[in-house]
Amino acid sequence: MSDVSIERREAMLDKIADLDAQHAVAVAGGGERYVERHHARGKLLARERIELLVDPGSAFLELSPLAGWGSDFTVGASVVTGIGVIEGVECMITANDPTVKGGASNPWTVRKIFRASQIAEENGLPTVALVESGGADLPTQKEIFIPGGKLFRDITRSSAAKVPTVALVFGNSTAGGAYVPGMSDYTVMVREQAKVFLGGPPLVKMATGEESDDESLGGAEMHARTSGLADYLAEDEHDAIRIGRRIVARLNWRKAGVSGGFEARSARTSTTDPLVEVRGASATSLETRPYAEPEADPEGLLDLIPTDLKEPFDPREVIARIADGRSETNGAVFDEFKPLYGASLVTGWAQIHGHPVGILANAQGVLFSEEAQKATQFIQLANQVDTPLLFLHNTTGYMVGKEYEQGGIIKHGAQMINAVSNSTVPHISVLMGASYGAGNYGMNGRAFDPRFLFTWPSAKSAVMGPAQLAGVLSIVARAAAGAKGRDYDEEGDAGMRAMVEQMIEEQSLPYALSGMLYDDGVIDPRDTRTVLGICLSVIANRPVVGTDRFGVFRT
Ligand code: COA
Repeated sequence: MSDVSIERREAMLDKIADLDAQHAVAVAGGGERYVERHHARGKLLARERIELLVDPGSAFLELSPLAGWGSDFTVGASVVTGIGVIEGVECMITANDPTVKGGASNPWTVRKIFRASQIAEENGLPTVALVESGGADLPTQKEIFIPGGKLFRDITRSSAAKVPTVALVFGNSTAGGAYVPGMSDYTVMVREQAKVFLGGPPLVKMATGEESDDESLGGAEMHARTSGLADYLAEDEHDAIRIGRRIVARLNWRKAGVSGGFEARSARTSTTDPLVEVRGASATSLETRPYAEPEADPEGLLDLIPTDLKEPFDPREVIARIADGRSETNGAVFDEFKPLYGASLVTGWAQIHGHPVGILANAQGVLFSEEAQKATQFIQLANQVDTPLLFLHNTTGYMVGKEYEQGGIIKHGAQMINAVSNSTVPHISVLMGASYGAGNYGMNGRAFDPRFLFTWPSAKSAVMGPAQLAGVLSIVARAAAGAKGRDYDEEGDAGMRAMVEQMIEEQSLPYALSGMLYDDGVIDPRDTRTVLGICLSVIANRPVVGTDRFGVFRT
């Protein structure tokens, strides 16, 4: 192995170790004291409930595990969300974490559940909510009360779209929270644990003077026998999970995006790693097309990414490690399209876990007019043949300068952004390295609603690089001082640049972006193939239908 590869591998492994540490914080939830108290009450933790709910040995793709990172709230935002396979059906699972502030929903919790709900809606996934929550986080209620109503709206809209919703109630589900079981198609409540009422005994006393108790107001038995809100009364948590699995088994679920039946392949699960230890295991690929493992060892992904993102790397090396190898049905690993034109963007066709994909991957960082036009054509081609697209980001943005402006770089970038925006085949984005400026937009950044977006620990994203941004500010400030006839404070300028550079650097890092829900998770590059396999399988719950209706392509 060359010195450069060793240096890159060490840097990446350091970042991955740090990522593991950040995930461990999320898994720890409210911390040892609250976890012990919860167990002492004979209750299971959120991740333990999920592990029992999903098919034995299947993978659980946890989403947004670092939500709230860098905020005043506990990392993970007091809820676990992700996609798991229950009785062979891919479901969106949400589970309140009662060890964090009683499972109360803060602004990040709400955003995280919104995102889970968006993924469920776009991909047509049944949802299973594991409920035990103190409702709204009262000190931040102003930020969540009004927008939070969407949570309940989404449950019933899913039902109306013939995508079933299930609530398993393990504990508190009061006030607004009562509408989670209230709106769901199927409701299971655990005896002597579930408490589902609009107002608890103190509130009822205040409102009407009536004396009451938890059981008569909202106990599982009462709801199963008297109010009818509970469809099933579970004896304990394990029983609730068993019933939940039986409900999903009877949904007679058919994946609309695949023609044949399906086969849930086994993968390892773990309660200690939020983004399930998927490496070395096959995805829950539900596609029937046979496939071969990649021809190049995915471990090699660790050696590829330069520590200085200004240095380019060849994305074909990435594709060789994430795409299916050659097989009877897959004659080539990667059929590159227009290889001689716009060489700074690699485009072509491949297959991942048996699913066909079109790939757009940055090669030299900068996007020129040729790359933008090539991308536009390629996106149209994928729509013509109803094939999902994968965007592999490592771009510093569109080229600037007189020659390029006069050559129409804005027009050509706009064509690419038009194509990305109006394309109707599913998109997945992976931020491998840089994702700066409008390059983030053209390559299908978060605002362009890819079905899934994952980030590698090596990624950075911002309006521009930290040094460039600080430099621009300095030039603007110097010009402003000049215009006012003042001397420019050179010493202050150096300090300002250093401070701004550091601030932008921090804001560009993956945890900061993930904390704000700008991705669906930061992943170990070696897990990319499996994560993509799961996502493509999930996407196949709905038919993939391309469009020929784009906006006006400025020429
Ligand atoms: N908002 C903010 N913090 C909350 C909260 C809420 N809705 N519910 C609980 N917490 C906090 C508690 O203050 C406590 O904080 P601390 O450990 O820093 O002191 C922590 O969460 C754990 O609460 P605790 O009451 O010790 O846990 P529990 O498991 O015994 O009971 C509840 C959990 C949810 C049943 C109970 O806390 C409760 O009834 N909360 C209020 C529920 C409510 O009326 N919500 C309004 C809905 S709109």
